[in-house]
Amino acid sequence: MLEENIILPQHIAIIMDGNGRWAKNRGLPRTEGHKKGVEVFRQICRYCADIGIQYVTFYAFSTENWKRSAQEVGTIMNLLRGFLEELEEREKENEIENTAIRFLGSREGMAPDIVQMMDLVEAQTANKTKIHINVAVNYGGRDEIVHAVRKLAAAGVSPAEITEQALSDALYTAKQPDPDLIIRPSGEYRLSNFLIWQAAYAEFYFDDILWPDYTPDDLDRAINAYAHRNRRFGGV
Ligand code: IPE
Ligand code: IPE
Ligand code: MG
Repeated sequence: MLEENIILPQHIAIIMDGNGRWAKNRGLPRTEGHKKGVEVFRQICRYCADIGIQYVTFYAFSTENWKRSAQEVGTIMNLLRGFLEELEEREKENEIENTAIRFLGSREGMAPDIVQMMDLVEAQTANKTKIHINVAVNYGGRDEIVHAVRKLAAAGVSPAEITEQALSDALYTAKQPDPDLIIRPSGEYRLSNFLIWQAAYAEFYFDDILWPDYTPDDLDRAINAYAHRNRRFGGV
């Protein structure tokens, strides 16, 4: 349960980790963990919209995750395809309720049909305002910073014009607030190249639940803990 009258984080970022271990614990192939993980992702998206979170970023596939077997990568890409096709279908029926969807990450190396659907969904939902869902796919924080610097260089930006604001505005998260709360379940205590620039003053919450077991109650616990933190941003 969420505590009453607490200040909610404006932007929550979640590292959806532990799918493989969840499947292994059940004697299932890793891919089954990813399938269950997508169901949980949908449920948590809906829950965040219900409680009034404005921005939620989910880490779905990193620039390092290409190291995995072709079969596992293929399954994850097909799950992404399924999600995009469903979004298009719902957009046609006008069922996506005021949700802006953005895909953070490099489009390079992604299948052209996926890139096309990502671009379309982003364009169709860009002006929606109730909740912003970011899905980080082929995303790496270092890759994002290099991409941003190249973008500034290509635009002929002079050294004096390279400010923190200019760099922020060239990231995949341009114009969005930095995450207030970063959650990593599954018992790992690291960022794994997630939002390394944006995380400068984020609060962190770690727990041991594997992502396919994650529930709205678990999110409530993280948000309650966040509400009791004292954020100083370098002040007193
Ligand atoms: C997270 O779960 C999903 C991706 C990284 C794509 P993992 O697949 O990393 O699951 P574990 O960490 O091996 O249990
Ligand atoms: C981070 O998880 C990436 C995603 C959850 C998408 P990993 O499972 O890839 O991270 P490491 O390898 O444990 O650091
Ligand atoms: Mg993992």
